[in-house]
Parts: sequence; structure tokens; C-alpha cells
Amino acid sequence: MTRVYQPTDYVVEKSRVSSFEKYKEMHKKSLEDPEGFWSEIANEFYWQTPPQPGNFVSYNFDINKGNVFVKWMEGAVTNVCFNLLDRNVRKGHGDKIAYYWEGNHPDDYSRVTYKKLTELVCQFGNALRDSGVGKGDRVAVYMPMILETVVCMLACARIGAVHSVVFAGFSSDSLAERMSDCNAKVLVTADGAWRGEKLLVLKNICDEAQQKAKQKYNHNVNTCIVVSHLNRVTPCGRLPDDIRTLYKWNDEKDIWWHDLVEGQSTICPPEWMAAEDPLFMLYTSGSTGKPKGVLHTTAGYLVYATATFRYVFDYAEKDIYWCTADVGWITGHTYVVYSPLANAATSVIFEGTPFYPDNDRYWALVDKYKVTQFYTAPTAIRALTKCGDEYVKMHDLKSLRVLGSVGEPINPEAWLWYYNLIGGGRCSIADTFWQTETGGHVLTSLPGATPMKPGAAGFPFFGVEPSLLDENGQVIEGPGEGYLVFAQPWPGIMRTLFGDHQRYQQVYFSKFPGYYCTGDGARRDEDGFLWVTGRIDDMLNVSGHLMSTAEVEGVLTEEPRVSEAAVVSKPHPIKGESLYCFVILNDGAVFDADLINSLKKLVRQRIGAFAAPDVIQYAPGLPKTRSGKIMRRILRKVAMGDHDIGDTSTLADPGVVEELFKSRP
Ligand code: PRX
Repeated sequence: MTRVYQPTDYVVEKSRVSSFEKYKEMHKKSLEDPEGFWSEIANEFYWQTPPQPGNFVSYNFDINKGNVFVKWMEGAVTNVCFNLLDRNVRKGHGDKIAYYWEGNHPDDYSRVTYKKLTELVCQFGNALRDSGVGKGDRVAVYMPMILETVVCMLACARIGAVHSVVFAGFSSDSLAERMSDCNAKVLVTADGAWRGEKLLVLKNICDEAQQKAKQKYNHNVNTCIVVSHLNRVTPCGRLPDDIRTLYKWNDEKDIWWHDLVEGQSTICPPEWMAAEDPLFMLYTSGSTGKPKGVLHTTAGYLVYATATFRYVFDYAEKDIYWCTADVGWITGHTYVVYSPLANAATSVIFEGTPFYPDNDRYWALVDKYKVTQFYTAPTAIRALTKCGDEYVKMHDLKSLRVLGSVGEPINPEAWLWYYNLIGGGRCSIADTFWQTETGGHVLTSLPGATPMKPGAAGFPFFGVEPSLLDENGQVIEGPGEGYLVFAQPWPGIMRTLFGDHQRYQQVYFSKFPGYYCTGDGARRDEDGFLWVTGRIDDMLNVSGHLMSTAEVEGVLTEEPRVSEAAVVSKPHPIKGESLYCFVILNDGAVFDADLINSLKKLVRQRIGAFAAPDVIQYAPGLPKTRSGKIMRRILRKVAMGDHDIGDTSTLADPGVVEELFKSRP
């Protein structure tokens, strides 16, 4: 029996929703009267034209009834950046710290107030306008975790441009594909950044990406704006005497950020945006290989991000909040940038890694800034667990009240370590389940309100009504396990895939007409807790990074010696899942260390280092059904070395299974 953990008095005292009954009542109201529920939050914002009663939400989730669409607050007009910055300054938060920035090296840190951030954003907004960027134009962003990244995103929002941030761990190929797909006008980057002792020369990756974009997709950005970062931070490893020798400079295209903003006015009139105008797009992996440009719009996203942050982290005015996610992922968008600022919060933003200069860096920072809410990923927790408790005990973590987890299911051992050691048994853990597509948390516990079970995502957030469906689309009532779907939209759900509404309908709404299908499985236990069991499509979650088997298989078969590849997930003690790859070779090719190395290198090059396979195995053949479908279930067993493979009667050649077990490395 899993133990149920009730919120402690310490958490309940300061919480907004202080009992399970109150949560249930509010949840019910949010579903019965979405307009009443969401208007309360919407009314806090500044609107050029306020949301109109009666026109608050309209949608169609049933593909059989025509076009799938979602609209919230149609007809309302506002600007997200104005609400995050100017509104807060006008409310008297001008001198409040918006961010404490902590660099990779502990000697590097700074802070920025709401007023100063507003000025920086205005200057960069004006600079973007001068560079020819206007409403609706896409801006590609390939940046480290520095304040300019936030400034850039908010400047886009201010002038109505759509930022498309690409995580700076992606390769130049991935960046080229993403910035071409959205036809970005401008690319914003930094010369480089340190991660631990590793130097990343981002400018070079951007140059390569631009070349590839031109050759492969006939796409050109007009301008590449570069933050000069390396010469203002403490080196964490070797650097040449002259940093400029690290990369090339193209006078026609490249421009320094500081040159561009110099002399720009600190006043920048916002572009007034319709509620359903795009705010930003963000690529996420698709199970057929090509990344999907998830598009979020203005008013609904703003309201939903604000609400989830407020309730899930129970943020109070003097709290210091820290989300460790990189801005390159959705967690960074919603919970490093948009929602903390919408709530006038003070956040920590951290450039480095948990292991530099030592394994106590996270805990040192919690202590240094007296962090009250700490939000991180299970993969980080597992890695830190392995480092030993002494690193934690070196620091005072008593400021903490709410701990968050995101990105993948958290295993009970990691949960308990987080709860007992980091939270000292006082704090609530919010295991937040959500997706790039959902815009914000959809399943989670609420700190003072809901009980917790280690490993369970808990309960639906306000406005969210989850269902579990069986294979035939029948709703499973009560305890059971099935496809996790949603029958109605909440304000923050994505509206389309950029440039491909057809694919949006096909991927998310065609399997079960009438429902948004997450692609995850979930179980509801006898107490009503929801447990997310993981992807049920051909997607993998490595250290919280989602990727598709097809994407990696596509890269492996680019290698001339490989004729066919199949990739499956193998459980990994720290990363959660890891890539286990089977390759069939072309005639005459030899399976050796050289091949393994070049395949690993190829995946790093095409996708990014985080996608590097753990194992590459020679396969004399693949277990296929008579209709030619690869039975991945069997490959997963081979990867695990588990001979209990069950029924193989549907295989065209059952003999291949034994061969595969024999050729395990
Ligand atoms: O499989 C689920 C897993 O991550 C997927 C979404 O990945 P992405 O769009 O990159 O967004 C990650 C950050 C929100 C989901 O489909 N996932 C995310 N959070 C959890 C999770 N699985 C279980 N528990 C979670 N808390």
C-alpha cells in the first residue's frame, strides 16, 4: 500500500487552497462556469478591449463535426509583455527584483528589477523593430540561460513577433530545420557560454545552422544578433587570449546586441494583440520524425500560466521562486518567464549545472537566495541522489515550502529523497504533469490542498477534466488504466501546429474524436489519484527530453553502412529512459567500434548531445510481423536481456529473436 502524505500545517497555513474540499469545490466551479472562474484572473490584467461576456470560450474537439479549434476571450485585445512588466511597475513593483541571475561560475551573478527589465525589453523591442521585425514575424532564439534571453522573448511579445526558441543543446542541423520551418526573420544568440567546465561556442553552431538552412531549405535569416557574453563572465576553463578567434564574424549579417540597443529609447509602445493572436511557438518532437511547431496564443495562455503558477506553487509576495528548467523548453517558457512575471514574482535564473563547481550547487543556491519554491526534474533529482546526502546537509534549506517535479514520472525513491531530505518532511511536492502542448500544468497536487502519493501526478488542475479511455474509446470510470485524454479545453492549450493544422488534427484529435489525446497512458487508483504511466506512442523520454524513435532511426540509417534501424527505450537509473538501438548492416559492412562511434556522433550532430544512444547493437534481422511491422515489445525485452518474451507466433521469422539475444553486446 502506498502511503498517503497529507500537507503539513507549515504548508497549509500559507496556502491559497487549504483543504481538499475547497479544491474540489473550486474544481467543480471551474468546469461548470469557466467564464466565471477564469474572468476573475483575467480581470486583473490590462485590456485594450476586455473579454466580452458570453464570448469567453468556443471550441470543437470532434474532428467528425468539422475543423478542430479552440478560442478563449475572442474579441479581447491586450499585450502580454505590457501585463508582465508595465502593469507591475504601475502597481508599485518597479523596484522589486524580477530575477536574480546566477552564472555558471559562482562569482558571476546579477539582479534586475521590474523597472529595469521593462527598460531593457523596450530597448530591445525597438531594436527588433529597427531590424525590420514586426507583428507576426518569427524570431529564432538560440541562447544560454542569461537575462538577455528573457529580454528577447518579452521584446518579441511586446512588438507582436512570435519567438521560436530552440534549446541551445540542439545541433546545428536541428536549429536549421526549426528556423527554416518557421521561416524566422532574425536569429538571436550569444557568442558562447560555459556549462560547467565545457565551453559552448554558440555562434559557430548558429553559423553552421545558417549555412545548412540555406543549402537544405533555401532559408536565410536577415540578421544574426549576438550577445557578447564570454568576455563578461569568469572563465571556467581554458580560453584563447583573444575570444574573437573562437568564431567568425560576418559584417553583413552579424550584429552585436549591445551595438543594436545602444541609444534605443526605453519607451516602446506595445503592439495590441487580439486574444487569439500568436504569442510564441515551440518545437516538440513528433512521432513521425519532423518536429511539430506548437503554437500558443495571447490571452488564454496568459491567464492559464498565471493561475497555475499561483496555485501550484502557492506563491506569496515575498517568496523567492526557482525553476531550474532551461528556457529552451516549455517549462522555461511558462515557469521561468511568463508565469512568474505575470504574478510579479521574484525568481532565480541559473546558467550552470547542478554539478559545478561541486555537487552542492543547487543546494548552495537555495541557501544563498533563501528559495521558497524549487522546481526541477526527476532526472536531476536522481543524479543528485547518487552524489550523496552530505552535499545537501552542507546547506540550510529551511526556506523551502513547495517542491515541484516535471518532465517525466518521478519514481517513489526519488520522491521520498526529495520529500524527506530536501523538503525536510515539511514541504509539499507538486508532481506536475503537462506537455509543450498543454501550455501549463494539467495534473498536479496543490500544496495545501491535496494529499500526495510518491509517484502519482495527483489531480486535475482547475478547468481540466481528464478521462481515461480504453482501446475502443470507451470511458473508464473509477479505478483503471487507459489513454489519458481531455474532453474540453482549458485556456492554455495550444491552438495549432505552425503551418500544419491538418497534422494538429491528425496527431491529437483523430484517434478518439471528441478528445485531445495526450499520447500518455495513466492509471486512476481507488482513491482517485492519477498516475501517469508514460508514453504509449513511439516516443522516448530521456532525461525529460522527449524524442521519437523514428527521428533517431532516420539519423542512424543515414550512415551508409546501415540499412535498417530500430530504436527502443531501456530504463536508465538516472536518465529515466535511454536509447537502445538495433542496426542491420548493408552487405559487406562490418560492425565495429568505428561504426558505433560514427553512429553516436551522427546522432549528436543531427539532433543534439542529449539524444546520444547508450547502446548500439548489431542486428542480424529484426522481429517483424508478416505485414512487416517491427515488434518493439520484443526488442525492448532483448534490450533488457529478459528472455520472457511471450507469444511470438505472429512473427514472420521467430528464429531472429534468439539471434538478437546472442548478439547483445
Ligand atoms: O510523457 C509525458 C512527460 O513528458 C511529456 C511532455 O514532454 P514535453 O512536451 O517536452 O514537456 C515536458 C515539460 C512539461 C508528457 O507527454 N511528462 C511530463 N511531466 C510529467 C510527465 N510524465 C509523468 N509525470 C510528469 N509529471
